[in-house]
Order: sequence, then structure tokens, then C-alpha cells
Amino acid sequence: MRHLMSPLDFSVEELDQLLNLANDIEANPKKYAHACDGKKLATLFYEPSTRTRLSFEAAMMNLGGNVLGFSSADSSSASKGESVADTIRMVACYADICAMRHPKEGAPLVASLHSPIPVINAGDGGHQHPTQTLTDLLTIRTLKGRLNNLTIGLCGDLKFGRTVHSLINALVRYTGIRFILISPEELRVPSYIREDVLRKKNIEFEEVERLEDALPKLDLLYMTRVQKERFFNEEDYVRMKDFYILDRKKMELAPKDMLVLHPLPRVNEISVEVDDDPRAVYFKQAQFGVYARMALILTLLEVKVC
Ligand code: NCD
Repeated sequence: MRHLMSPLDFSVEELDQLLNLANDIEANPKKYAHACDGKKLATLFYEPSTRTRLSFEAAMMNLGGNVLGFSSADSSSASKGESVADTIRMVACYADICAMRHPKEGAPLVASLHSPIPVINAGDGGHQHPTQTLTDLLTIRTLKGRLNNLTIGLCGDLKFGRTVHSLINALVRYTGIRFILISPEELRVPSYIREDVLRKKNIEFEEVERLEDALPKLDLLYMTRVQKERFFNEEDYVRMKDFYILDRKKMELAPKDMLVLHPLPRVNEISVEVDDDPRAVYFKQAQFGVYARMALILTLLEVKVC
């Protein structure tokens, strides 16, 4: 039995197969409509979510399965003091697979150690968000046609943004990847990412503050929200929150085929006037999230569809 804690839990070949499966699901949805008949997915969300939880639920429903779960810690027995280890043992009596989001780094890993059913990390604190990475890889591979030889700008809150941490971890396994890390000084990537991932693997990267300087060089721009909930004080958040605002004027500096991704939710970092630009693919990306999660559920439940 397998869990998904980090995008590195799959080899590059396994990821390729999973993305192929997601593309096939998109092209032939009917073929998969009963693949999980009679199966149940539990969504255990101790932290707010719209896309991740609903796309997991939609994914399981599209496969013919059912869903159950909770969408905040307050509405679960965590508020009575139940441990994650006990919760997962009990949930395993009701469901075949579970997706867990938790504010504490490592909580889904703890759950997986006590779980007789596959556990998927649906975001743990500022650490990892592997299913967003599957979504991002599927979006990039499908719309750009490749996952190698790309110059990728990651912009915004690179310190607390778990989607960025997972995406960097996943992309360094492909060839010809170059990063431009665009953030204010205080929100630069954590040193473990800089040293243990980028430097260790000899990945070409630069850290800059001005988005305008990076834009002309990019194949992809991955915008992120400043992670309000991870700041220790409100003042710092208020100072940082509007540091970057991508607007139509800045988009003029970007190549004609540069894609703009964003895991969403967006606050102010992308002006709504950019939404009509054909290069803005963040809503398509949210749609790809459903196919990626369908492929993941089938893979972890070892369901084969011929
Ligand atoms: C992201 C997350 O939860 O980390 N959202 C998502 O799952 N699409 C990004 C964010 O909250 O900023």
C-alpha cells in the first residue's frame, strides 16, 4: 500500500504514467465513470480549502465513488482533543482512501504511519502540497508540451508557500530547468530548499526582487499569494501583501508564449484584467486538478481501467 506525502514519493517514470492517465481521463471521461463504484474517499480538512477539497470530492464522484469528511478542525473531534493517529484508525473503518490537510507540518505523515488505507497529503502547514504539484505538472506538460528545458519564475511568498516547495522538489528531477526566484528579501525560499535541493543538485537559479526584470526571460510564471495565516504578526503581512501585482502592463514585458500559473486562491497578486489574456491559465489549472486527483486515486487504489 502506498501513501502520497511528497511529489518525490513517485519516480519520474511513475509520474509520467500518472500524467498520461490524467490526460486519458480528460479525453475519455466515460471510460472511468464507474472505476471506483462502491469506494469511499474521506476528506479530513483541519485547515480551510476550496479547490483542493472540492476537486478531491469531484474526482472521486467522477469515478463513481462516494465521499465523506469534514472541512474544519472545529467540526471534527480534534476539537475534543483526539489525535491524528486515532482519527485515521477510525476513518479507515469507514473509507478506502483519505486526503488530509493539516496546519502542522508532518501531520499527514503521522497519519500514514498509523493508517491501513492510503493517505494523501493535501497540504501540511508551510511544508508540502504534492497534489497541487501533480496539478501543476499536468498543466505545464499539457499546455507547454514538456517538463524539461524551462525557465520558471516563482513569484511571491516563497518562504511559506508550500506549493512552491513541492513544485521545486518535483521539477529539479527534469533536465534543463532554470529558476528565477522572485520575492521580497523576507519571503525568500527557506534555506533547506536553496541548499539541500537547488545547490545540491546544481540547479541554475537566481534570486531577484523585481518581477519586471525577470518577466522577459520566462517560459512560465508561477504566482503565489502571501500566506497570511503563517505570519506571526499582522503588520508584516500588511507590508508584504501587495508587493507584487501582475497587471496588463507588466504582461507586455513577457514573451508571447509565457504561461501564468497560480495555485489559487488569488488575492491581489494578479489583477483581474489579466484573466482574459490567453497566457493566463490558472482557471484551466484548477480544472486539471480534478484529472490529476482522479489519476492519483486510481493509482493509489490500484484500480486498472482497460
Ligand atoms: C494553495 C495551498 O493551500 O497551499 N491552495 C491550493 O491548494 N490551491 C495555495 C494557497 O493557499 O495560497
